[in-house]
Amino acid sequence: MAISCPVDLDTRRLRDEIRSIYARVAAEPSGEFHFHRGPDYAAEFLRYDRGALALLPDESTASFAGMANPHRMGPFGEGATVVDIGCGAGMDLMLAAKSVGPRGHAIGVDMTEAMADKARSSARAAGLDNIEVRLGDAMSLPLEDASADVVISNGVLNLTTDKSVAYGEVFRILKPGEGSSTRTSSLPASSRRASARTSTSGRVELPALSRRESSLQCSARSAFAASRSASDSTRSAARARSASPASTAS
Ligand SMILES: C[S@@+](CC[C@H](N)C(=O)[O-])C[C@H]1O[C@@H](n2cnc3c(N)ncnc32)[C@H](O)[C@@H]1O
Repeated sequence: MAISCPVDLDTRRLRDEIRSIYARVAAEPSGEFHFHRGPDYAAEFLRYDRGALALLPDESTASFAGMANPHRMGPFGEGATVVDIGCGAGMDLMLAAKSVGPRGHAIGVDMTEAMADKARSSARAAGLDNIEVRLGDAMSLPLEDASADVVISNGVLNLTTDKSVAYGEVFRILKPGEGSSTRTSSLPASSRRASARTSTSGRVELPALSRRESSLQCSARSAFAASRSASDSTRSAARARSASPASTAS
């Protein structure tokens, strides 16, 4: 059965609401919200390493509001560039920055100024100078094509109003090749813990999942296959534009 959004969905209002909720999570993480937050939740429910979280500034871990653990697939690789879409207060971003080491980069993007500010000040407090935080939108990422080795996104792409545009952006910024990967926890709610690797050939590899999770593999595979093909069309259109005389003249 096809599921469609209401045609009169007010996307501007929705984004304003999302910004206002996450500005509150940044300012007052212990307030009342309809979702879990904080380091105890991350360690108990999502199996984050409690010791690693204890080394991060409280201001960041207190405002953690992710739905999964993108670090469970292992380290990101020394020297890699990791992009965290919707980095929030920067908990995953700082763990990524530590994982890639001083030769690597961790770039966070968030559309809520209060969250981006918190991620920046947490990175400073943690002494991590391989972190950069940019204010921006998942639907139009402030990043160059093919600039990321790894893209992570924890509890964010589910909030975007057009998933194919958002996933198209993920694949636009990923470097082509076997080494590039996406770890997202923003697939449909029931697929929260799914992660995937992809290559230029469009092959998608999902990690071993529990029996309950494995029944969700199909939806994850189709989501990634759809986004892969959206991204291919975006790249072809860009190639066609740059090859046209009109675009080379300007
Ligand atoms: C559920 S929180 C998760 C934050 C962070 N990933 C974490 O695990 O704590 C969602 C975050 O995504 C940001 N966000 C929501 N929609 C976004 C969009 N379209 N573009 C960029 N950031 C977005 C919000 O501002 C918020 O910081």
